[in-house]
Amino acid sequence: MCCALACDNDIEKDMMISSPNQVNTIQFELNDKGQPIYWVTRNGKTIIDKSKLHFEFLENVNLFENLSVKSLGTASFEKEWEMPWGEQREVKDIYNELKVKLINPENQQIILHFRAYDDGIAFRYEFPEMDGIESLNILEEKTEFLLTEDYTTWWIPGDWDIYEHLYNTTKLSEINALQYANHSNLAQTYIPENAVNTPVTMRSENGLHLSFHEANLTDYAGMTLKVDTTNLKLTSKLVGSERTDYKVKRKLPFKTPWRTIQIADEAKELIDSRLIVNLNEPNKLGDVDWFTPQKYVGIWWEMHVDKASWDYGMTMNNNGQWEDTGKAHGRHGATTENTKRYIDFAAENNIKGVLVEGWNTGWEHWIGFEDREGVFDFVTPYPDYDIKEISEYAKSKGVEIIMHHETSAAPRTYEKQLDSAFQLMNDMDMHLVKTGYVGKLIPKGEYHHGQWMVNHYRKVLETAAKYKVAINAHEPIKATGIRRTYPNAISREGLRGQEFNAWADDGGNPPEHLPIVAFTRMLAGPIDFTPGVFDISLPTKSDNQINTTLAQQLALYVVIYSPIQMACDLPENYENQPAFQFIRDVGVDWEKSITLNGEVGDFVTIARQERNTKDWFVGSITDDNERTIDLNFDFLKEGKTYKAKIYKDAEDAHYKDNPTAIDIEELEITSDTQLSIDLKSGGGFAMSLIEMK
Ligand code: NOJ
Ligand code: CA
Repeated sequence: MCCALACDNDIEKDMMISSPNQVNTIQFELNDKGQPIYWVTRNGKTIIDKSKLHFEFLENVNLFENLSVKSLGTASFEKEWEMPWGEQREVKDIYNELKVKLINPENQQIILHFRAYDDGIAFRYEFPEMDGIESLNILEEKTEFLLTEDYTTWWIPGDWDIYEHLYNTTKLSEINALQYANHSNLAQTYIPENAVNTPVTMRSENGLHLSFHEANLTDYAGMTLKVDTTNLKLTSKLVGSERTDYKVKRKLPFKTPWRTIQIADEAKELIDSRLIVNLNEPNKLGDVDWFTPQKYVGIWWEMHVDKASWDYGMTMNNNGQWEDTGKAHGRHGATTENTKRYIDFAAENNIKGVLVEGWNTGWEHWIGFEDREGVFDFVTPYPDYDIKEISEYAKSKGVEIIMHHETSAAPRTYEKQLDSAFQLMNDMDMHLVKTGYVGKLIPKGEYHHGQWMVNHYRKVLETAAKYKVAINAHEPIKATGIRRTYPNAISREGLRGQEFNAWADDGGNPPEHLPIVAFTRMLAGPIDFTPGVFDISLPTKSDNQINTTLAQQLALYVVIYSPIQMACDLPENYENQPAFQFIRDVGVDWEKSITLNGEVGDFVTIARQERNTKDWFVGSITDDNERTIDLNFDFLKEGKTYKAKIYKDAEDAHYKDNPTAIDIEELEITSDTQLSIDLKSGGGFAMSLIEMK
């Protein structure tokens, strides 16, 4: 076997694959123990040094030792596909592939698939049918990534239950995830070791950027990356379960998710990379025109700022049924009347959706309770919520009601009701649901990111698709590009969202949060961040405020990508606010997106062209440092004049003590225009560009 490799130069040459532009190369070899090793170079320089590919199984098999190469195959692909909704319409998918079939002395085979793209590399494992092996129980996947220098790293801890942590900026050698074990403000958290969640993004001394993640996470456990701070090595560490002695169980044949590294000379290229969606299977659902990308408002923020409650004040009787025993406290937010108020507001302001949280029974017994199984009911409204009347009223106004299913992390209760819950949505002409999984999972011993839950989230997605329902999941499994295959996976949370600003005891998201998120979490896929707070000081919350300026809240509609974008503040806070015009105008579905500039954790500016109107919108945000953004408009159509409206921080704006100081300016812009715009601390700007006829 060694001879076959060492002596045959041709084979060795074949054991590598380069990107179409020849910049990124993955090489492969078997070491002297017959174990698979790969490494990655960029322009000839090693960026991932020789790293082992390894698995441990419950079965007594030796699939990763004493291997020899059975066959090699390379191929080039050039494809293009269309996003039904997205950051852009046409996506190019161009790569070279190397397929390596390996065989052990027992005649058992594994296949490695390597892909080299101009914007990164990816590989996955295939376990084909093997004689005598029905299924494999994976104890651990040990895919290594050996880095060659001590990168500056933007990371969150490798929590098995939640991604809602603040990002840290440290050297790779200084990562200490365990300091966040048992963090406050999290209804569930489990950080077993010094590992990080993905996407995790890094910058080298000379400015090279890497971001590690995974694509097409299907019937498998989520991957965290264990950090060896001494050797600068990351090793995959799968999310496990206390209920099983394996982390992943699969019948043969199967393929793992792709292990991905996005690679870019400049930070901004990471955002424009489509590597993650490209690594997923094509659309399985066909036309999803029953889902309309949309802006929405909702009965939501009023609960987070303590002005209303989700629950009504019901009592559960001995038969496990909720009863109105006269204990209603009058603070219930989801009433028929209040919902109509939001519907009217949406209809008047070019907003399509109204989310209603707290409409159904069960909210008296969710967060903080252990016995949450069988509590939430996804078809029974509270007595003061007339679901039929509301759906008719919404329809008459051209507005869609967005359903809400908080499962309180009792997925089996949810699964039992899935069909009836989606049927109710069909009956009410609703096509979009926000789901939620707050709390420690029932059954005990499962974690949000393990294989069992990955399969639950997929089951919900697939069942929803049958009912023409789109999903916006909170406390979700991470986005891994599944939206390409299931375009009803429209958005998700999976980060510290706006809500933390309302109640986190650490003072909320600091100004650097979103300039980091744009280069980390956002590389995975759409984010339901819920921007648009205008009453930034949060009068009902003495210890909290939003740590951005008003201009930055507007900029987020462009910077943060999602096909649904909430205007999350209370309708009364938008009354008589000239800046609200931007939210009325801004698009949510894009023909093209271009990241104009940015540095991780500092600032980012993105331009997006709306699909239907072809109007452009630009958003820019900064951390707590003031800065000037120089803009040119060479992305606009030459020879055309655009009417621009710019919403920017006023001279004396500052996120802490003068956040709402905003200047609104109108001017005419062509592709030759050059502009410099000042961003204040925690600030930003938003701009609409309408082509003049
Ligand atoms: C957490 C979600 O992130 C939030 O948006 C929602 O309001 C609550 N759970 C209740 O479901
Ligand atoms: Ca959440």
